Amino acid sequence: MVDTQGTAGLLAQSNQPNQPDQPSQPSQRNPHDTLERYGEPVIELTAARKVYSTGSIEFEALRGVDLEIRQGEYVAIMGPSGSGKSTLMNILGCLDVLTSGHYRLAGHDVDDLDEAELAEIRNKEIGFVFQQFNLLPSLEAWRNVELPLMYARVPGHERRERAERALERVGLGSRLGNKPGELSGGQQQRVAVARALVGEPTMILADEPTGNLDSVSTGDVLALFDELHELGRTIVLITHELEVARRARRIVFVRDGEIQDAPPGHEEGAPLREADPPRPQADASEADASEAEADAPAAGRRQNGAVA
Ligand SMILES: Nc1ncnc2c1ncn2[C@@H]1O[C@H](COP(=O)(O)OP(=O)(O)O)[C@@H](O)[C@H]1O
Ligand SMILES: [Mg+2]
Repeated sequence: MVDTQGTAGLLAQSNQPNQPDQPSQPSQRNPHDTLERYGEPVIELTAARKVYSTGSIEFEALRGVDLEIRQGEYVAIMGPSGSGKSTLMNILGCLDVLTSGHYRLAGHDVDDLDEAELAEIRNKEIGFVFQQFNLLPSLEAWRNVELPLMYARVPGHERRERAERALERVGLGSRLGNKPGELSGGQQQRVAVARALVGEPTMILADEPTGNLDSVSTGDVLALFDELHELGRTIVLITHELEVARRARRIVFVRDGEIQDAPPGHEEGAPLREADPPRPQADASEADASEAEADAPAAGRRQNGAVA
């Protein structure tokens, strides 16, 4: 994939602290070195509770969740069906509000915002990717991608240019004029990723993005997420599949509406698979990243085993 001029600007976050203060040992250099130095908190969730009421029946779908995710992190939220992943995604994505507790997104208190304010912050800060792609079937790829820019009232010529660049970035520069029905599932999801990127949001929030894809397309989409992470994007990926989750740099396990300690074998530092090569350790950036995590809520502890 060729990174043509301008696309780095589209994807890289300018305030990402990308340069290590001290060079690491060349022999230990890891392509992700500089990205382990994460920035300011993007997500700060404190004592988060969500109660759904259906008639007289109440169901507590989130039961006191603490979670911090920093700029530049690639985090998977994993858990079985019904554990509260989509509920959490709706909260993180400002699509729903907490029953109690607090949510700060990119430094904004989200708790007291009204619908219009939520929509505005959502459009500015978050790029969504859904399992079902959620593309408009009657619109060509580039027209789907420009939609968030229309809501943001970006002028037409600029929208088209940015939509094209985003599609080029996801490897679909030759498919600008195709409608979703003329594209494979993997290509449709890449259009959706381009749509998520085009507004240069603070974070990409993906709910089961590979749930409808075959293994080849799943590989394509996850490779794209790897690249975005390397370019400094903040990615939160929600999945029930360990093979998908382990591509992230940290896994947060959810069960019955609570953040859980890692299941046996996935403890801090433990590889997720026997065959995993050992991760380069002991360079300065890794140490800093661990330090940065140390004062994060227990819920946000990194699982170092979650390395691709
Ligand atoms: N709108 C709703 N009303 C009532 N219960 C809900 C609602 N949405 C989700 N739930 C319940 O909350 C729990 C968590 O659901 P969800 O967040 O969708 O889990 P997951 O995405 O992990 O499968 C489930 O028991 C589900 O039945
Ligand atoms: Mg779900």
